Amino acid sequence: LMSISDLTPAEFTRLVLNASSHKKAVKDAFAAGQTPPKPLHGAMTGKTVAMMFSKRSTRTRVSTEAAVQLMGGHPMFLGKDDIQLGVNESLHDTSVVISSMTSCMVARVGPHSDVTGLAASSSVPVINALSSDFHPLQTIADFQTIHESLSSTPSSSSLGLEGLKIAWVGDSNNVLFDLAIASVKMGVHISVASPTGYGIPPNIKSIILSAAQGVSNPGTLTETTIPEEAIKDADILVTDTWVSMGQEEEAKKRLEAFRGYQITHELAKRGGAKPNWKFMHCLPRHPEEVDDAVFYDESRSLVFPEAENRLWAAVAALEAFVVNKGKIL
Ligand code: CP
Ligand code: NVA
Repeated sequence: LMSISDLTPAEFTRLVLNASSHKKAVKDAFAAGQTPPKPLHGAMTGKTVAMMFSKRSTRTRVSTEAAVQLMGGHPMFLGKDDIQLGVNESLHDTSVVISSMTSCMVARVGPHSDVTGLAASSSVPVINALSSDFHPLQTIADFQTIHESLSSTPSSSSLGLEGLKIAWVGDSNNVLFDLAIASVKMGVHISVASPTGYGIPPNIKSIILSAAQGVSNPGTLTETTIPEEAIKDADILVTDTWVSMGQEEEAKKRLEAFRGYQITHELAKRGGAKPNWKFMHCLPRHPEEVDDAVFYDESRSLVFPEAENRLWAAVAALEAFVVNKGKIL
């Protein structure tokens, strides 16, 4: 799983619905003092998942470790100073060796080519845990969160999100790119406001637009440099840090470029968001991209359920790719 673009709309829908149903079933079982129910209980017994993280992480690390443990497997965390990944050994050699000893690699890397390189040489499934270009586990959790909060027609085969509008205000980055691909596939319109010079690169834009192929009512992508334009009639306002990991040296320039893009109640009102608009953020959050009043607004902010859903997204992805060997049932 390199990106949401690897999944058909039906597969993506199934992963999100599975994440949501596992959440309910496991929470009910834990509340009753029971072990996780079948099919999760013991599904990964004897399996080791190598977690190769070249960047720091709270949610992705904890959710992956907890998900593997929940299914009876062994998560093996390998930080950037622990293994030879791309430093003292080629990606190819590392991938061949680690995949000969484990059942899955979950990798957080810098350049996207690092995770596709690992996958190309691996004999086991590889899951992208964030690269320069994509963050598929985040997008599964995000759509689970939207489905659980805003679905118009909950059903066992559809997310019921067609026609919703997401406004992304901020940096056009890895988290946005997979969110946009999923939006197009799910019939959700996405409008992106980024400053000049921080928009979607042409190669990624063509991947996002090609997500519409074969979809009867695809969502649309619109781009602007004016936050208010993107926000008009939006159901959900989303942002992420203006300074992603690896961009620290550009921080001063970026904070300057993004001035005026902070999400506030005033901006949402000025832009004409829908009256019941919600707020989402993948976290970690910094105050410059969204103020406290929105971030901690219990009537609008979905950020903590969104973070918790990372666990259920990891469970659904590991079940599909490791337990069911890529069959998304
Ligand atoms: N949202 C997310 O991926 O968070 P971490 O960087 O803490 O894993
Ligand atoms: N865009 C951020 C996401 C972190 C989860 C980054 O790449 O650092």
